[in-house]
Amino acid sequence: MSDGIRLCELSELARGPLGFDPFDDGQDTVFAVLKDGKVYAYTDICPHYGDTTLPWKKNAYLDHAEKHIVCAAHGALFTIEDGLCVSGPCRGQFLAAVPVTIKNNTVWLTESEAGENKR
Ligand code: FES
Repeated sequence: MSDGIRLCELSELARGPLGFDPFDDGQDTVFAVLKDGKVYAYTDICPHYGDTTLPWKKNAYLDHAEKHIVCAAHGALFTIEDGLCVSGPCRGQFLAAVPVTIKNNTVWLTESEAGENKR
């Protein structure tokens, strides 16, 4: 049984959030943020339009203060811990969480999630 899809080493996330293309879509579809020793991962889709990716450039998932996840399109802000939009046009909506596990300092997309997202 495999561990799922490898995303990165935990140490890589210590430098900032990262986007990933785990399903070979040709663009980042999942991103992960390390905060207070925990990894939070979401699909890279803003709930405002439902088909817009968040960052204005690769890996630019946080606001300037690095306190919230930000959508560059219309400035929506989301909590890192649960993906809740706390400011912007989709206030009250959530980013879609992606379950990840950490094994031996490596971050993995869990197998069940990988299977559900496979196209
Ligand atoms: S598409 Fe993200 S805030 Fe509008």
